[in-house]
Amino acid sequence: MAFLAFGQLKLRQLTFKVEKFSMSSNLATKLRVGTKKAHTMAENVGFVKCFLKGVVEKNSYRKLVANFYFIYSAMEEEMEKHRQHPIVSKIYFPQLNRKHTLEQDLSYYFGANWREQIQLSPAGEAYVKRIREVSATEPELLIAHSYTRYLGDLSGGQILKGIAVTAMNLSDSQGTAFYEFADISDEKAFKAKYRQNLDELPLDDATGDRIVEEANAAFGMNMKMFNELEGNLIKAIGVMLYNSLTRRRARGSTELATAE
Ligand code: HEM
Repeated sequence: MAFLAFGQLKLRQLTFKVEKFSMSSNLATKLRVGTKKAHTMAENVGFVKCFLKGVVEKNSYRKLVANFYFIYSAMEEEMEKHRQHPIVSKIYFPQLNRKHTLEQDLSYYFGANWREQIQLSPAGEAYVKRIREVSATEPELLIAHSYTRYLGDLSGGQILKGIAVTAMNLSDSQGTAFYEFADISDEKAFKAKYRQNLDELPLDDATGDRIVEEANAAFGMNMKMFNELEGNLIKAIGVMLYNSLTRRRARGSTELATAE
């Protein structure tokens, strides 16, 4: 009898293990694979390519920082609302929050009255609207927004920071608070933990697929925002080129000609 009970217990433990295993969603892998194309496309947007080559125009950059301020504020506010949600709570990490760092950067780029000066661009507005919408209707999709921004920030932050400092002649870590995660000591380890939590989310396949789809949409929204800045950047590059071509006063043709 006791033996039978022991056998049943073992069987129950085994069943539990199998159930636990099958509850794993593999979402981290699904997201990485499912957004690979979108990531490559984002890397190839003109504004991003120029940034990577060290061509950064301060006015375009501060417009992006302003957009980010509204986007991260919305994302962090909505995540906070759902911090007790059975799924969203698993990737609720306030140490990732960027709102405060963006406030510091905005005060550097626009001055003390930055709040009166900044505004959302049309693409930024659509992005914020979508974050509010998914939070109200399907909060699990907030995971896609959190993943797209924060994992990207944790991945390339230090390189992008270095480029920004050199390209815009920044000093004393002014204007780059956004790239600093003061409450995360090991970004690589944190990213691994975040990915593990994604993998362990108890999600059905359909929800997992919708999160991947939403992450692709989030990449698209980022690209639209970068594209909006392209025009400004091209103009600025044109002005730079024009100035460098006309900077030195050349001797006039008639000055060069020898008088006969
Ligand atoms: C400036 C151009 C970019 C470069 C050079 C770049 C580079 C990288 C690299 C090297 C990784 C891999 C890190 C790793 O395997 O641990 C990565 C991951 C990632 N990046 Fe980017 N990235 C760029 C732009 C973006 C943009 C614009 C976004 C989204 C808005 C983004 C979102 C992500 C995400 C979500 C990951 C995590 C992938 C995963 O592990 O699932 N990246 N990036």
